[in-house]
Amino acid sequence: MILVTGGAGFIGANFVLDWIANGDEPVVNLDKLTYAGNLHNLDSVQGNPRHIFVQGDIGDTALLERLLAEHQPRAIVNFAAESHVDRSIHGPEDFIQTNVVGTFRLLEAARQYWQALPAIKKEAFRFLHVSTDEVYGTLSATDPAFSEDNRYEPNSPYSASKAASDHLVRAWHHTYGLPVLTTNCSNNYGPLHFPEKLIPLMIVNALAGKNLPVYGDGMQVRDWLYVRDHCSAIRRVLEAGRLGETYNVGGWNEKPNIEIVNTVCALLDELRPRADGQSYKTQIAYVTDRPGHDRRYAIDARKIERELGWKPAETFDTGIRKTVQWYLDNPEWVAQVQSGAYREWVQKQYQADPVAKAVA
Ligand code: NAD
Ligand code: DAU
Repeated sequence: MILVTGGAGFIGANFVLDWIANGDEPVVNLDKLTYAGNLHNLDSVQGNPRHIFVQGDIGDTALLERLLAEHQPRAIVNFAAESHVDRSIHGPEDFIQTNVVGTFRLLEAARQYWQALPAIKKEAFRFLHVSTDEVYGTLSATDPAFSEDNRYEPNSPYSASKAASDHLVRAWHHTYGLPVLTTNCSNNYGPLHFPEKLIPLMIVNALAGKNLPVYGDGMQVRDWLYVRDHCSAIRRVLEAGRLGETYNVGGWNEKPNIEIVNTVCALLDELRPRADGQSYKTQIAYVTDRPGHDRRYAIDARKIERELGWKPAETFDTGIRKTVQWYLDNPEWVAQVQSGAYREWVQKQYQADPVAKAVA
């Protein structure tokens, strides 16, 4: 059994679906179901006895203690977080509560549980913390890509909260010996991506005939990784990562935002041409820049390749085509997310007993 947190969100759900599809051991999936958590992401494992869904908060110590005692996981994979930079600028409080305080509570519960395990299980236990390249701050056009030795220089409330959580994870290893692993990944994209982030927002807005808002000059660079490649990297680190180490995960796909938006438009022009024959590019609108906007991220992923033999399977061309196609094939998912219908369903479903309900 493994305990996954945040497994109803974008990356966590992709991870849980891959894990279950691979026939691995059962998963307890603890997710608070914030606006970003969506049980429909897990529709295909509903009723599967190897997936137990629990609605709850990683900051709830009593719940964590109960889940750990009941399910005796051999690992915890912590995806749960507030993840959107723009939201962190407008309201940082939730980011501190979940990313900092929540991670602290999860670490403490894990430590109490791990310390009481018998020797063999204690030796095998792992706490894997999923983090971001944004903790390293921003790069100039000529700087080398972020390596694991880069200084932490977070610039947004989001990245500062993630940096704080990484430091807590590191300290729990150094001080208490908790067997931790940390991954710092670049921008993910792929199926189930909530349409507040660049790529899904562009696809969804384009199809709805809305503006495609590009911040500032659109020349900020991000380094893109297909989400299932991120999931395979996490599996590999969980399997063979060295305790206390951090691993940078990336796809060697640095691209300016405007190029991403142009690529999405070109794919939509090919796969779902506009009725008026014009290109979706005509919907691009340059808008006010994000405050404190980091100019460039780039990941040096040589350590995970050298030590653990991990490499991404998708190129950007194959991954972005699959992604655009997924959104075209799943209009109900998009409609549910946009209308908020999935949240109403969740509220109805969990009203009586909000804690510990299996999806089954
Ligand atoms: P997301 O916002 O799509 O999903 C987050 C999930 O966590 C949601 O299901 C939400 O309900 C849940 N959650 C939030 N607060 C919680 C709490 N207090 N207790 C339990 N569950 C809670 O995020 P994502 O994009 O899937 O990111 C997952 C993790 O990966 C995050 O830690 C993020 O920092 C990290 N990350 C993301 C990216 C990316 O490009 N999306 C890149 C690198 C790292
Ligand atoms: O680098 C990893 C990080 O990537 C993760 O840790 C975060 O959780 C994840 O949200 C993502 O952060 P970004 O801020 O890079 O992602 P976002 O999709 O919000 O923005 C990508 C780039 O596109 C960024 O430079 C801002 C720009 N942008 C974004 C939106 C939503 C636009 O130009 N227009 C937009 O409408």
